[in-house]
Amino acid sequence: MKPANAVLSSYGTTIFEVMSQLAQKHDAINLGQGFPDGNGPEDVVRVAAEYLETGVNQYPSMWGMPALRQAVAAHNARFYGLDVDWQSEVMVTSGGTEALASSLFGLIEPGDEVVLIEPLYDSYLPIVRRAGGVPRLVRMTPPDWALPRDALAAAFSPATKLILLNSPMNPCSRVFDADELGFIAALLEEYDAYAVCDEVYEHLLFDGRRHVPLMTLPGMRERAVRIGSAGKTFSLTGWKVGYITAAPELLSPIAKAHQFITFTTPPNLQAAVAYGLAKDDLYFKGLADELQSKRDRMTKGLRDIGFAVLDCAGTYFITTDFRPLGFNGEDVDFCRHITTEARVAAVPVSAFYQGGDQGDKVRHFARFSFCKDDATLDEALGRLARHFGGCQVPGGP
Ligand SMILES: Cc1ncc(COP(=O)(O)O)c(C=O)c1O
Repeated sequence: MKPANAVLSSYGTTIFEVMSQLAQKHDAINLGQGFPDGNGPEDVVRVAAEYLETGVNQYPSMWGMPALRQAVAAHNARFYGLDVDWQSEVMVTSGGTEALASSLFGLIEPGDEVVLIEPLYDSYLPIVRRAGGVPRLVRMTPPDWALPRDALAAAFSPATKLILLNSPMNPCSRVFDADELGFIAALLEEYDAYAVCDEVYEHLLFDGRRHVPLMTLPGMRERAVRIGSAGKTFSLTGWKVGYITAAPELLSPIAKAHQFITFTTPPNLQAAVAYGLAKDDLYFKGLADELQSKRDRMTKGLRDIGFAVLDCAGTYFITTDFRPLGFNGEDVDFCRHITTEARVAAVPVSAFYQGGDQGDKVRHFARFSFCKDDATLDEALGRLARHFGGCQVPGGP
C-alpha cells in the first residue's frame, strides 16, 4: 500500500487522549483535558434547542449567519473598541481549531516561515507543516515563562509570513502585556508579516486584567487575524463554534480554505452564540470571577499538598512543579503515577514542546485544568492530599 500523508502520519495519539483513556480506566478525576463541568449557560442552550425546532436547519451561508456575524462585530466594538464591518470582516467557523486551520491553509504558501512560541497548543505545528510552512520555534520555559525577545527577533526573517500568537496562553496561563504585544507588532511591521491570534480565552483573565487583542495596536488592524471561540466563552466546548475577525484582504483567502474544509456550522448553534455574545457585561465578568475563584481554590489546595504552583493570569489551566513533593522522575511518569495511584489525571507540560530536545527545564511540570465544579476540585485535591500525605513517592527520599 502507498503511504498516507507523511506529516500527519508521523504524529501518534496525543498525550491528552492517552491520559484521558488512562483516567477512564482508573476511574480518575480528569483534570487533564480542559473541558468544563456543567452544560453551559441555560439560556444559551435553550435558544439553540428552540431554533432547532422552529428555525431553518439547512446550509447557512459559508460566512456564517448574519445574526452571529453582526454579534461578533458588536462584541469587538463593545469590548475592544474595534470598528468591524460584519459583512467583509467576520466569518464563522466550526470552532477555534477550524479557524486556525483555515487561517493557516489560507495564508501560508509552501516554504513560508511561521514563527511559533512554545509551549504550543497541539494542533498548531501539524497544520503549519501540512500547509507547507517552515516552523521557527521560540521557546518560553517555566517557571516564569518570560518572552525571550532576542530569540523572537532572531526567528523573524524576510521569509516570515506570519506569527501564531496565543494570548491568554494555553498551557502556561500567560497573558502578553502591552509592551510585549508592542514588541511583536514592531517585528510584524519590520518584516511585513501577519499574526494569526488565537484569542479563544479572551474572557478568561484574572485579577482585573483585560484582554488586549494584538489587532488593536497601531498598524495591526490590517495584519492581525483574531480568533474567538464559543467553546471557551460559553463553556460549551462540544459546540465547536468559532469566529474570525480580519481585514477583507486577509479574510478572503481564509474564507477560500474554509469553504473547502467545513463550509459552514450548525445554524441552531450559531443562533444561540449570537444571542450569547449579546449578553450583558455581568455574564462575562461572572465567568472570569468564577474561574478566578476556582484558580484560587486549586492554587491553595495544591500548595497545601506541597506542589509549587506557578502564576496563572488567564485560561483555566494551572501549572505545577511537582519536585517539592519528592518526585524526581519526569512529567510523563508523574502524570501516569497520579492517574493510576491517586486517581487524578493531569497532563505533562513537556507535551506542549514539539521542537526536539526539551532539555531539563520543562520536564518537571504538570498542568491541571480547574474548569470543574468545586466539589470535583475538592475531591481531586483530597485524593492528591491523601496520596502524597501517606505514600512513598517513587524516586522520592
Ligand atoms: C489555545 C487553544 N486554541 C484553540 C482551541 C480550540 O478551540 P475550539 O474548541 O473552539 O476548536 C483550544 C482548546 O482547548 C485552545 O486551548
